[in-house]
Amino acid sequence: MRIKRFSVLLILLLSAGIVQAGTGDELSDERQAYLANLLKQDCGSCHGLTLKGGLGSSILPQDLKERSDEALFITIKNGLPGLAMPPWGELLSDGDIHWLVQRLREGDVN
Ligand code: HEC
Repeated sequence: MRIKRFSVLLILLLSAGIVQAGTGDELSDERQAYLANLLKQDCGSCHGLTLKGGLGSSILPQDLKERSDEALFITIKNGLPGLAMPPWGELLSDGDIHWLVQRLREGDVN
């Protein structure tokens, strides 16, 4: 019954807030403004100010259609070793990264 034990553990971690499964909706206005700025300035420095590509590829909604939310989350959190995409997991919480993924889905960062 390993799976069941794992689920119990996951539920415990979730309720303790150790694993953040949130969608990012619960972030404060200040945090959201910080992230919106980061997306434009920091992510934009490689992906282009409008995110349609530069050193990094275009990360506009139409170009990310094939990617799952989970794949985008992991890419942002861990970066892409071997490519210039840096890992953001040190700087950003899981909630922050979920918020960024949602923003990328919506597009229109400006
Ligand atoms: C130092 C340059 C750099 C910065 C800063 C950067 N990226 Fe990237 N990013 C890259 C490169 C290079 C790739 C790989 C592009 C490729 O596949 O050719 C990439 C790939 C990605 C991908 C995967 C795209 C796909 O097609 O799967 C996502 C999503 C992404 N970046 C989001 C972000 C976000 C969000 C930020 C800011 C938090 C960010 N990046 C900051 C360089 C950067």
